[in-house]
Amino acid sequence: MAITQNNRPAPTLIFIFGGSGDLNYRKLTPALFNLYLDDWMPERFSIMGLARTEISAEKYKAHLLEGVKNFSRRKEVKKEDWKKFSDSISYIQMDAGEEAAYEKIAASVKKHEKEWGGHPNVIFYLAVAPQLVPIITKHLGKLNICADTKCSRIVIEKPFGHDFKSAHDLNALLTQTFDEKQIYRIDHYLGKETVQNILALRFANALFEPIWNRSYIDHVQITAAETVGVEGRGGYYETAGALRDMVQNHILQLLCMIAMEAPVSFNDDEIRNKKVDVLNAIRPIPVEEIQDFAVRGQYGPGWIKGEKVPGYRQEKNVDPNSPVETFAAVKFYIDNWRWQGVPFYVRTGKCLNEKSTIITLQFRPAPHYAFPSEAAESWRPNRLTISIQPEMDIRIRFQAKRPGQGMILSPVDMIFNYEEAYHDHSPEAYETLLLDVMEGDATLFMRADQVEAAWKVIEPILHVWGTRTPVDFPNYSPGSWGPEDAEALIARDGHNWITLPAPHQE
Ligand code: BG6
Repeated sequence: MAITQNNRPAPTLIFIFGGSGDLNYRKLTPALFNLYLDDWMPERFSIMGLARTEISAEKYKAHLLEGVKNFSRRKEVKKEDWKKFSDSISYIQMDAGEEAAYEKIAASVKKHEKEWGGHPNVIFYLAVAPQLVPIITKHLGKLNICADTKCSRIVIEKPFGHDFKSAHDLNALLTQTFDEKQIYRIDHYLGKETVQNILALRFANALFEPIWNRSYIDHVQITAAETVGVEGRGGYYETAGALRDMVQNHILQLLCMIAMEAPVSFNDDEIRNKKVDVLNAIRPIPVEEIQDFAVRGQYGPGWIKGEKVPGYRQEKNVDPNSPVETFAAVKFYIDNWRWQGVPFYVRTGKCLNEKSTIITLQFRPAPHYAFPSEAAESWRPNRLTISIQPEMDIRIRFQAKRPGQGMILSPVDMIFNYEEAYHDHSPEAYETLLLDVMEGDATLFMRADQVEAAWKVIEPILHVWGTRTPVDFPNYSPGSWGPEDAEALIARDGHNWITLPAPHQE
């Protein structure tokens, strides 16, 4: 996490494998361009897109510019800014499977060393299909530059493995070439401003920490809902499903941010140690009890906000009888001193009613209400809700007396809203994460043991869902909040899923 702007990163070379792909087009180049406009890029940098496609450097840059125009948070691109920035972009046509092609990388590093008069940071960004990661890593390993543990880094996108074993094997393979300190495993949720702010909320204030435990908190909920379907990624999604795609990584990381103990320092390993402690403390769900703790769903055809959408099984590259879940809800317990007995309910899904990622901590009821029984229709416990996106706010719900005669109580929200409080634009997650890689700060990246511990958490569910074919799919309509079983999962404990009030109700 970059703290101040006084020190720009050292001169840096960025090699993007999958340079002509979607991730670079939508996320990486727009993020790097924004870092450049905000003066965070190194004084000297060079970005090389690597891919098999035959394309001239000019056409390649024109393609990237189109991505910037369509996907950057800045809506306007000044010609002269893009010109200056893109002078540092080049394209290397190569087949990642061909060992000899890697000489082009070695030559490019040498050339820059000569021009810049020193050894730069060298970042290899693997924005490629997972099956290419082993072969690229193996070939990179033969280049001397990778042995430089201080300056050379490799960035790996998700999915990181398919289950515990494959993640473990991938870690073993990566560490044959790179030291753990050189490996940056991305979970883009950790780069979101609102997610980083959880650390500030919890550990920069004296107010919350004393009540942040089983004595005061009744339960925690995490919802990551999307209105989109699989957006043409049916082929990938068929190998993943909601549990792998969202729970194993993003949602468990959010859970860790909420549940971790206070770090002693902002050292990357210190923070990651605290998160691993949480993952290791999550109670393994016995295989024979999975149905009481986890619910899966798949959307059928229907409508979202007046628009007709195909069912998951009708999406391109999806098996017409696919058993893959597009919705998952799970109840976790964390067996440690702080959280014993406090359920953590998480849910995520595609084609749901709204796009919304929120975390809610529901507090226990007040121990005694001295008010007359007619003072409130029902007593609402206090709640702290952290809206990660698209709303960016933190709200605390408490009871207040309605103005007027008599003692009539109703719940109200006290809201901290990012846009109102700060007028600066929030950087995109990829901006933060790319800057951190350039600065060599791994705090917001997943360490090997973290990824493996997260796979272990969901392994029993994967096992049961993988061996028992769902008989009721599709079991929810687009535009709903998922299958009924998900409501039952939480209702059995006397709770209901919390959503943000629509703006007009506030
Ligand atoms: C990705 C998943 O990791 O996160 C996608 O593969 C999902 O399926 C996306 O749509 C959600 O990210 P965000 O930032 O839009 O919440």
